[in-house]
Amino acid sequence: MTPPSIGAPLDRVDGRLKVTGAAKYAAEFPVANAAHAVIVASTIAKGRVTSMDTSTAMRAPGVIAILTPFNAEKVNVPPPLTQSGGQSGGAAPSGAPSAPSSGAQGPAARGRAMRVPTVLQSTEVHYNGQPIGLVVADTFEHALEASHLVKASYASEKAVLDIANAPKNPPETVHPLSGERVIARGDVDRGWSEAAVRVDHLYTTPLENHNPMEVHNTVAVWEGSNLTVYDSTQGIFSVRNTLVRAFGLQPTNVRVVSYFTGGGFGSKGGPWSHQILAAMGARAARRPVKLSLTRRQMFGPVGGRAHTSQRVALAAARDGTLTAIRHESTSNTSTIEDWVEPATVMTHMLYACPNVRTQYDLVRVNIGSPTFMRAPGESTGTFALESAMDELAYALSMDPIELRLKNYADRDPANNKPFSSKSLRECYTLGAEKFGWKARKAAPRSMREGNWLIGYGLGTATYPARRAPASTTARMSEDGRVTIRAGTQEIGCGTYTVMSQIAAEALGIPVDRVTVELGATDMPETPASTGSVTASSTGSAVHDAALALRQKLERMMQSGETFSDAIRRAGGQPVEVTVHSQAGPEAQQYSMHSFGAVFTEVHVDESLGIVRIPRIVTAHGVGKVLNEKTARSQIIGGVVFGIGMALVEETLIDPNTGRYVNADLAEYHLPVNADVGMIDVNFVEENDPYINPVGAKGIGEIGITGVAASIANAVYHATGKRIRDLPIRVDRVMAG
Ligand code: MOS
Repeated sequence: MTPPSIGAPLDRVDGRLKVTGAAKYAAEFPVANAAHAVIVASTIAKGRVTSMDTSTAMRAPGVIAILTPFNAEKVNVPPPLTQSGGQSGGAAPSGAPSAPSSGAQGPAARGRAMRVPTVLQSTEVHYNGQPIGLVVADTFEHALEASHLVKASYASEKAVLDIANAPKNPPETVHPLSGERVIARGDVDRGWSEAAVRVDHLYTTPLENHNPMEVHNTVAVWEGSNLTVYDSTQGIFSVRNTLVRAFGLQPTNVRVVSYFTGGGFGSKGGPWSHQILAAMGARAARRPVKLSLTRRQMFGPVGGRAHTSQRVALAAARDGTLTAIRHESTSNTSTIEDWVEPATVMTHMLYACPNVRTQYDLVRVNIGSPTFMRAPGESTGTFALESAMDELAYALSMDPIELRLKNYADRDPANNKPFSSKSLRECYTLGAEKFGWKARKAAPRSMREGNWLIGYGLGTATYPARRAPASTTARMSEDGRVTIRAGTQEIGCGTYTVMSQIAAEALGIPVDRVTVELGATDMPETPASTGSVTASSTGSAVHDAALALRQKLERMMQSGETFSDAIRRAGGQPVEVTVHSQAGPEAQQYSMHSFGAVFTEVHVDESLGIVRIPRIVTAHGVGKVLNEKTARSQIIGGVVFGIGMALVEETLIDPNTGRYVNADLAEYHLPVNADVGMIDVNFVEENDPYINPVGAKGIGEIGITGVAASIANAVYHATGKRIRDLPIRVDRVMAG
């Protein structure tokens, strides 16, 4: 009897490759005769490049080619948004970066119109740090040196940099949410006026930037009209489609390879300019080109989290029953794309309130385009909504858990569909018990240890469970070994490992007999590793392929035979199946979401305003946990991300020049080990028969949601000071 593979805390099957350095990341592929490219970035935020003097740079050691808007080859990029009404978000042509298809909650997945890549096709400058040139040289150092010798002249225009005061929804806005900019149910005004208790406040979250350990890297190799690209990406197929369109190729001409990606968190979710620039550079230099962004170039050219300003108004009856929710969010986009951070996305679904109105507004500023960043929408949105729920709990003198249970939604109130499964009640109960919530004294400033004020806080976590179509090939050879092939990506989550477990379980064989091959566009197509879809989508395809292979083998087997016996008797050729797997009608019949509860203890130094987080306890219901160890790691990573969001992360833009002021890991603060206390991760057992064949809801995004609110609520409980603007810096804790 083979022990079950699914759920076991299996070590990563690629762990040894990673710790020994044998795992190859994009820039590490030993491509013969490769040259190195470095991007030249604009130093103004808006205007035009009038000329570029490359003469000194061309004479610098090792320089092979320099591309500028004045000499670069023409490639196909989408038209600017302002032309002929632009593009609508829902109908982006193939190759445009697109978000995963959504579940019932709609707007999150359509939060963008098409981005125009900045690949030297025009002299226009949209933000400070935009690529305006590319230097190709024999070594990285030579390219970097020469990049500093390129002199650009500009016709500068006044940039829009003040997010707080920029005009809302400027006339040319191509609203990606069109009909869904305002969503309402019931009568919010009436619910508001009938209420006994009301809270109405503004919450803000800052610009943030992703900082995966691996910067964005691309190696482009042309052989005739065939292009091979080694890329650090969360989505090999969308990179391929973009290159196909840019260079007028066929999909079979382009092979994108990504066996390992060193983190992305959304910044590698779709293609950016550098993949096209690398291929242009390789054409100009007539040799392979490696292009690595510098850490500074990670701020601007590859997205970041939008700034949000969110007004949340909650009204309730004396017993805590919500009578109205109003949630309005304004976020920034760029001048090359209309991207919406869908911060109100969960507001219609999370609580059973009859009267709800949400609204999005956009401002357009001259900074790099925002994009997906871990739980786009839910991370920023739950900060505001779950802070407001805490404020309401105090206004009602109710326990924060009681208030949430009072308004518990047993069906999805947005569409009245049943949830495929929901264990949020159990999450509150389990989390509270593990945390010791009972010891909380209700009044703010009522718990302390010496100079440390102690606070307990709660935040609710939520993220949709989505599934996208995916294909997979499963093959067994005569020795009984199975190879799974699916063109997904390993971005650090454990994809090689859980796919091995899923296949082994479906075949009923030990997991060490399964080899998973992924990460190339000549493999069966699967979705990008975004939006927590990989386990549910590619995992389901792997499950279905392994099961189909097993059934095929079982049909070949005579009594008493093993799989290997049957293959041998049939001539010894490997047996292979390819399946295409996608959601059925259940996706329309049920509302599918993960939920969780995040409990935080903070200690705040009363004299200095320093916030410490000794412990966070989480409880999540995420469907089936496929690997206890990697699942726990996912939640820990998400919680640490949430600690960063709550306390330290903040991208600063110079208000005069639009320059990213803190564009490095010394000045852009992230939590380090000393900032992270105990994180106790718990899962509520959840058997969801509807969600997908593997029963997993996806776990990459939910870990960050609810965390910032949980911390802010704990800071209020400790200090009596409500901080509605992230991050919770010392100056904000100490401010009068
Ligand atoms: Mo996730 S923010 O869709 O990588």
